[in-house]
Formats: sequence, C-alpha cells, structure tokens
Amino acid sequence: MPEFDASYRVIRRRGEPDVRSLEAYRRAGGYAALEKAIRQQPPRQVIQHVLDAQLRGRGGAGRPTGEKWRIVSQQPDDTRYVICNAYDADERSLAAHTMLERNPHQVIEGIVLAAYAVGASEAYLFTSSLYLEGIASVQRALQEALDTNLVGRDILGTEFNCTINVVGVDIGFMGGEETVQIAMIKGRRGMPEQRPPYPAQAGLWDRPTVVNSIETLANVPVIVRDGPQAFTSVGSATTSGTKVLTIYDYVPDSEPKVVEVPFGATLREILRHAGFNRAEGELRAVVVGGAEGGALPTSLLDTPFDFDRLEEIGAIVGSGIIELLPANTCMVAWAMERSRYLSKESCGKCVPCRLGMKRITGILEGIISDLGANNDLDVLDEFAHYVPDGSLCGFGIHAPNSLKTAKLYWLEHFRMHIQEQQCPTGTCIPVRAHRFVTKHVLP
Ligand SMILES: Cc1cc2nc3c(=O)[nH]c(=O)nc-3n(C[C@H](O)[C@H](O)[C@H](O)COP(=O)(O)O)c2cc1C
Repeated sequence: MPEFDASYRVIRRRGEPDVRSLEAYRRAGGYAALEKAIRQQPPRQVIQHVLDAQLRGRGGAGRPTGEKWRIVSQQPDDTRYVICNAYDADERSLAAHTMLERNPHQVIEGIVLAAYAVGASEAYLFTSSLYLEGIASVQRALQEALDTNLVGRDILGTEFNCTINVVGVDIGFMGGEETVQIAMIKGRRGMPEQRPPYPAQAGLWDRPTVVNSIETLANVPVIVRDGPQAFTSVGSATTSGTKVLTIYDYVPDSEPKVVEVPFGATLREILRHAGFNRAEGELRAVVVGGAEGGALPTSLLDTPFDFDRLEEIGAIVGSGIIELLPANTCMVAWAMERSRYLSKESCGKCVPCRLGMKRITGILEGIISDLGANNDLDVLDEFAHYVPDGSLCGFGIHAPNSLKTAKLYWLEHFRMHIQEQQCPTGTCIPVRAHRFVTKHVLP
C-alpha cells in the first residue's frame, strides 16, 4: 500500500497545524519557492522544473503543464495572463473549496510562480461565488501577501509585478470550462469557444493565457521548493504527484471525505485510506470522475487511479469525485438520472450535446418505464457516439460516459427492462404500475 500520509502536498487535513495565516504558512516553508525562483532562477528554468516534474493538469484532462507554460512564454505578444481555475464545476467536489479555505497562500504562491514563469503580470482567480468561506480566506491571504510584497508591485524588491483579481460566478457546470471563464471575465455570456486557437495562444483579451486548475498551481511551489526529482518520487509511471479526491458513500446525507492520494494507488487502496470499508457484496459500482464519470464494477477495484488507465475502462479523473453505489442500484435508472442532470447543465451551444443528451435521457426514461423498444440500444449507441463527436468542449465529450459504462458493464439490466419488462432490482416503477394505481383510485 502506498505511503498516503507522506504524500499530502496541497490540502491540509483536520488536526494539522493551520496555515491560513501568512506567518504560519511561512513557518511551514511557505513562499520559500517564490523567493528561490525570483532570486535564483530565470523564468525558463522554472518552466524546465515543471516539465522535469512531469506535472499534468489536475483539471481533468491531464495535459502537461510545462508544455502549456512554454507555449505561452514563447508567444510574441508580451502581455500575458494567468487564470487559476478554482471553480469546481461539479458541485459535489470539495477540492477547490478545501484548498482555498485551508491553504490559500499555497494557491497564491502557485499563481505568482506561474505568472513569473510565463511573463504575466496579471492573474485571475476564478471561483464559485457560493464558496463564501473559501473566498474570505483567500481574500485575507491576498491582503497579507500584498502587505508584505509577495504579490502586487515590485515583488520581493525585484521588478516583477503580479496582481491577482478574484472573480466569483455561479453558472453551474459549464463555469469550470476554460473558454467559458475567459468569456465571463470579459463580461460575455459564458459559452465555450472553438479551439484552436488555444488560450495559450489567444486567450483573455486575445492574449496568451495560462489556464490551470487550482490544484495544478498549488503543486508548483512544491516542485520549485523541493525539486522535480522529489516531486516525481510520488505517483505512477505516467503521472507524478498526488490527486485530491472527494469520496461519497451511498448513505444519504453522509459526510464526504476529502483526501489526497498518490497517482497510481488502486481504487481499493483509496477507498480503504478514506475509511470506506464496505464489502464488495454491498456495492453495485464505484463511480469515478464525478457527474461525467463512469461506473465501474467492483471487479475493477484494483485499477490504479491514473488518467490513462481510467479512460481505458470508461471512467475519468474528471472532477476527482469517487462515489459508491449500493448493490440494489438499477444501472439503467442510474444512467437516466445522470443523463437528465447533464442535459440540464449543457449550455446548448452545440446541437449534438443539447439535443443528444435530451434524447438519451428520454430513451432511458422510456426503458425504465417499460416502454422500451428493441432498437433502443442501437439508437443509444448512435447518440453515445454523436454527442462526443459533435461537441466543442469536454462537457459533450464525457456526457454519455454514464450511459456507456452502464451499458458496457450491466447490459443485462437493459435487456431485462426492454425484453422482460422487469427491473433487475425491483426499484424502478414501470408505467404499468402507475396505470394500475390510477385505475384503483378512479371511481
Ligand atoms: C464542462 C467542463 C467543466 C470543467 N470544470 C473544471 C473545473 O471545475 N476545474 C478545473 O480545473 N478544470 C475544469 N475543466 C477543465 C478546464 O476547461 C481546463 O482544461 C483546466 O482548468 C486546465 O487546467 P489544467 O491544465 O491545470 O488541468 C472543465 C472542463 C469542462 C469541459
């Protein structure tokens, strides 16, 4: 079992010394990385360290952060921006909130280091306006950092300037997408843009822009302070470092757990570390990746948590949510609930996503109401292909994941509903039952 406790790098756990104040953060080694970089390392060396640490973006797609920074730093336009994506699109993820609230200076240090590396002097911290405590905590930390010359003008007595603006909005799932954030900072309606050009080439106000997840940026001070080699000593062969996860049991209203685990740990090890010790027989599935994630059977619990490995089996790192489903879950009903939620969150810009998710939801509703037809499965397959294929952003690419994994691993649930008009777990209420009840209440 990997060394989980030694691998906490970006979140602070309950019971650990509080580092919210500047004084406490400094005592814990905070801002040493910024001092080191600004005084001893030219920007291109900071980028090289991030490349050598093989840092992959924690916002979901796992793109190499150093590559993105290098592209931005090489653009001829020398007005550049940094956006820290601290939004947490998936409303059940507590990752960004936890980092903002409990470790705000590390986030600020990461943003300033990114700005230094790519030659930006203005940054935006884009978050949810609902995170009142997180926003208050980071605003307090920003004031302390301003007062002590760690952000703002002439940082640490050098000629390097970096201001950080905090932007809070609440527009649902799509608010986490990078081009939506760029549009909203400009005061435009939040809808995704066609790429290329990528934000690294033409982002905010059409200038080269780094957009990184808050978690990606919070890892940067660790890399600069301890060196890339120490950073790669934790993690898997393809992804170094750790991942912050929010883990939910299936008992309604139970407290989720926020943990930080090394990449490469298996799902089983992660659940055990978080204190979820349910027997396999109690579970139908483990959903990995949040609202756009995929459901995996317990036979896959020994899969390592890693970008590539999870995608091979239909799940994603996504928002870093892992969720248990109880053994009596009908997976057709589960896929229907998920698709219904996502069809409401679709921004509607791309027709395949806007209409496709509605059609998927409608067909699944029909199947669980025992109104399914034999060709429903073929039609669902077509939509599961068209929606990702015709969508501009990652939302549409992953929206059918619940349907796809439910069909891949629990095809029998669909077959029973369609051919036998039976719910495999007796939990779906068919239209026939509604009719039956109605008949008896009518005079
Ligand atoms: C619908 C949607 C929601 C997203 N939500 C988030 C989010 O909450 N946080 C995040 O960091 N990235 C999110 N992303 C990914 C961002 O668009 C972007 O790729 C990411 O912030 C880049 O940072 P990284 O390279 O550090 O991962 C989302 C993408 C999509 C398509």
